[in-house]
Amino acid sequence: MCGIVGYIGNKNSVPILIEGLKRLEYRGYDSAGLGIIADNKCTIVKRKGKVSELELSLKEHPISAPLGIAHTRWATHGEPNQINAHPHTNSSGKLFLVHNGIIENYNVLKTELQRNGYEFYSETDTEVLVKLIDSFLQKKLELSEAVRYALNEVKGTYGIAVGYSDEPDKIVVAKKGSPLVLGVGDGENFIASDVNALIAHTSRVVYLEDGEIAVVYKDRFEAKTIEDEQIKKEIHEVTVALEEISKGEFPHFMLKEIMEQPHSVKNSFRGRLLFEEGSSKLGGLQGYEERIARSKRILICACGTSWHAGLVGEYMLEQYTGIPTEVEYASEFRYRNPIITTDDTCIFISQSGETADTLAAMKEAKRRGALVLGVCNVVGSSIARESEAGVYIHAGPEIGVASTKAFTSQLIVLALITILIARRRHLSLIDGQTIIRELDLIPGKIAEILEKNEEIKTIAQDFINAKNFLYLGRGYNFPVALEGALKLKEISYIHAEGYPAAEMKHGPIALIDENMPSVFITPMDSVYDKVISNIEEVKARKGKIIAIASKHDDKIDNLVDYSIRVPETIRMLMPILTAIPLQLLAYHIAVGKGLNVDQPRNLAKSVTVE
Ligand code: AGP
Repeated sequence: MCGIVGYIGNKNSVPILIEGLKRLEYRGYDSAGLGIIADNKCTIVKRKGKVSELELSLKEHPISAPLGIAHTRWATHGEPNQINAHPHTNSSGKLFLVHNGIIENYNVLKTELQRNGYEFYSETDTEVLVKLIDSFLQKKLELSEAVRYALNEVKGTYGIAVGYSDEPDKIVVAKKGSPLVLGVGDGENFIASDVNALIAHTSRVVYLEDGEIAVVYKDRFEAKTIEDEQIKKEIHEVTVALEEISKGEFPHFMLKEIMEQPHSVKNSFRGRLLFEEGSSKLGGLQGYEERIARSKRILICACGTSWHAGLVGEYMLEQYTGIPTEVEYASEFRYRNPIITTDDTCIFISQSGETADTLAAMKEAKRRGALVLGVCNVVGSSIARESEAGVYIHAGPEIGVASTKAFTSQLIVLALITILIARRRHLSLIDGQTIIRELDLIPGKIAEILEKNEEIKTIAQDFINAKNFLYLGRGYNFPVALEGALKLKEISYIHAEGYPAAEMKHGPIALIDENMPSVFITPMDSVYDKVISNIEEVKARKGKIIAIASKHDDKIDNLVDYSIRVPETIRMLMPILTAIPLQLLAYHIAVGKGLNVDQPRNLAKSVTVE
């Protein structure tokens, strides 16, 4: 989960690199650095901390060069400090590289290199890689061959960009397991971990696949495989606009993305609702509908927030399609030796489309013959490209590390997939049309909830010093309880647990006292009375309670300390609405604590390492 940016052309690369790093900082932000080559001389500048620290240092000591490579780091090996920051260099200082990923056999390689006289200054696996490449340069190989030979010795994952002052007309890049994209300019070329760092300069991109190496000059690029086969790469047009990855008038990306949800949710179902047929139209699943409808089982694999979306999808798919559905953590699935057959449909949900565990789980399911579908947000991402079919959620770039609009868009797409399949099984036309009609009303209902932003901000002030939180919900809203807890803990660092409300009496209720606040998600649905009983159990023990409740509920205010009202919809879509107040509650508590909600400590937006 690091960010890589590279430039080769006729301009000064340094401002381009800094601007690019800032657009990738959500990928990792514990240190940053860059390497340039000017007049056949290599200069490295790196700093602990955010990109702004590096920028400050460069303002004090300006440098300029037509070739540069930069990196913002999320530490995997070695603590986040200046010595471990990238780029890493060989002993002559002529060769440098930046790396995203993990070299799993770095200890073995390091021992061999030390035996051959190499010394090391850092704790990183990346320094091993640059010295391994150097060892092949010493055998008089040219740079791209030295890189290729070195990578053939490596086990693990990498996205790398390499510069060498003895070959100042090129940058060599390579990819395996960590994303890397080329940006094709006019007399200049760019490299980045994702398109967000490129779109200010070009809309023409080339996605590298695993096992591919590219030699990037200022006026062309040449691609080959790690087995030295020359390959031709397609140039794609990206349609992400610059304003989509800018904060605009918002103080944080997270708030912008929460507020965007009426629009992003609408984009997720735009052109996909078939009112007449009471069904949906999903181009990415065309030709696969029958195979999915005949599945003996549906398996959903994901991580984090996407896993929570999968849990909601499980309720949807089982309720409406009647197909047994299971949800697995991708990291557990891939190492569990799962029973997968050709009768299974496996859905892999990932906002970034680059989560290493989810990608690996997809490959495992594919290897065993299941139909693998991707539900992703980033177009052209690894999981999207690895899947046999799939659906983009069209939520627009999500920069805030805490996922918000992607979650609600994932739920929309899961509802669309559910209707598409259910209408080929037992769902009636009338019931299908009801769901479609309710889907169409969701953006307006989200907008109504967002108008309570100030009310929720006021409630949040009473919980800034909370040490723990319980989130409780039943049925469709149990996954929302998990999601609300994750939102709070990942940006406010307050410990929070999500639980099925009925589980309270099997242990967690022992935690309840006046210092343990609880959030209950309690719309007026079929389990409302049962959740009210759970609320009364907590109240009897002096627990402070926040309820996410229906706007027509005239009982709840006598039972709880705070209630945040939401409009009603059908059960399967209720999680889209009940998640919104929890996003805002977490946001305002974290902001009230003076924390960096867009770049929470220890986290990164896309977990491309195991
Ligand atoms: C969610 O707020 C977190 N940032 C994290 O749990 C995230 O959902 C998880 O890493 C999965 O990411 P993905 O959807 O890009 O695969």
